[in-house]
Amino acid sequence: PAFTRRRFINTAVGAGVVGAGGAGVGLLFRSTDSVVTGGGPGHSSSSRPALSVADLRGLGSPSPGGARHRHVLTAKAATVRLGSGREIDAWTYNGHVPGPAITATEGDVIEVTLRNSDIEDGVTQHWHGYDVPCGEDGVPDLTQRPVAPGEEFVYRFRADQVGTYWYHTHEASDPGVRKGLYGTLVVTPRAGQRTDARSGRQQVDLTLPVHTFAGIVVVGDQDGRTEQTAAPGTAVRLRLINTDSDPHRLTLAGTPFRVAAVDGRDLNHPEQVRDVSLRLPAGGRYDLVFVMPDTAVALVLDNHRDTGVTLHPDDDAEREPRIEDTSDWPELDLLRYGTPARAPFDPDAADRHFTLVLDRALAMVDGRPAYAQTVNGRGHPSVPDLLVAEGDVVRLTVVNRSLETHPWHLHGHSVLILSRDGTPSSGSPLWMDTFEVRAGEVWEVAFKATNPGIWMNHCHNLRHAEQGMMLRVAYD
Ligand code: C2O
Ligand code: CU
Repeated sequence: PAFTRRRFINTAVGAGVVGAGGAGVGLLFRSTDSVVTGGGPGHSSSSRPALSVADLRGLGSPSPGGARHRHVLTAKAATVRLGSGREIDAWTYNGHVPGPAITATEGDVIEVTLRNSDIEDGVTQHWHGYDVPCGEDGVPDLTQRPVAPGEEFVYRFRADQVGTYWYHTHEASDPGVRKGLYGTLVVTPRAGQRTDARSGRQQVDLTLPVHTFAGIVVVGDQDGRTEQTAAPGTAVRLRLINTDSDPHRLTLAGTPFRVAAVDGRDLNHPEQVRDVSLRLPAGGRYDLVFVMPDTAVALVLDNHRDTGVTLHPDDDAEREPRIEDTSDWPELDLLRYGTPARAPFDPDAADRHFTLVLDRALAMVDGRPAYAQTVNGRGHPSVPDLLVAEGDVVRLTVVNRSLETHPWHLHGHSVLILSRDGTPSSGSPLWMDTFEVRAGEVWEVAFKATNPGIWMNHCHNLRHAEQGMMLRVAYD
């Protein structure tokens, strides 16, 4: 049936959900056993039973043979010593940045207890790019109350999606993420990727979040783990994650490579490239794979030779890599990379089509005029919700009318990139959860509404998000 706001609010109020004033869709509290919204996966008839909070919560049990991974993450302020020796005032999980690396095999259950020790702003845990059930999405004042000092909140979901993701606080996201409340989430296929099928050798699989602390770019751990070894012939996978609010330029010197996955989703037959640069949007992830040559390989960030990772072909750490000058390497266009394949839905037969114009302007924010990062002339929470129905193919046209870059992020879904500035995507189907709309650009994307709930759609320059560039996509 058609989604109506009235029905939603009625359901919400009936469930004891706190409405957000006149802002429309209210707070989807995940407390006790109250009923939150109708619908849910697998229920599409009009007589479907209301979705319970238990349904909205994660799947509680692993698939057969799967494991359960429990973590306790305690958010607390701490002084952290970076590899360079510099000390910074950070917000940490368990006293360390990044937080614990969360890994799982497809079908396992991940259970994280988030505790807040002393972050006065409060914290939540958002699973960036991971299509968790809405109740686990960690959006403050929407799917939960922020976790205040002394409180805790348990997240639980089944890891049914393979790939490279990350997590971060969504309350006080700026400054929280900038100060260190982030970590990595990697889910590997059940079939296993740890050994290389051809050589039978152990694969080298490195998860490398890129983060800037007070102007210092840190790759990987706070200690700046930048030297690695790999035997020649070994398959290497580098999982690069941009946890900053600005893009990074990446080059991989010393080997041809493939971009195997973008935002956790495998590309279709990506060809081998070399001497190209990649631009990794804020929030985005690239998996780069190559076979280790018998000479060193260097990942260089933002043209700084001493920022990145060096892989040596053996244990001889004396051996200096030959790092070429990569500063003039052209940028690889991912919209023309890889091999086309049929999309799982027809974006030309979209059920809904919305246009989002991003700009910076004087806007009404909470009933008062303020300078804001705007969507269609308004700032969050005054931007109207995009109301869709389960099963809809939803098309979005995102227009950047400002002079800044806006990495556009959708929770709970990946979007299929259709075109940029009128040029259709002509390579592999490209699925992203964060696509970078640069100044003046127009992007066309589409997604299928298969994960009921209320989902944030916002700029992942988290300063911009806090300044209003955010809205909600809602369905039941
Ligand atoms: Cu990574 Cu709403 O964000
Ligand atoms: Cu922005």
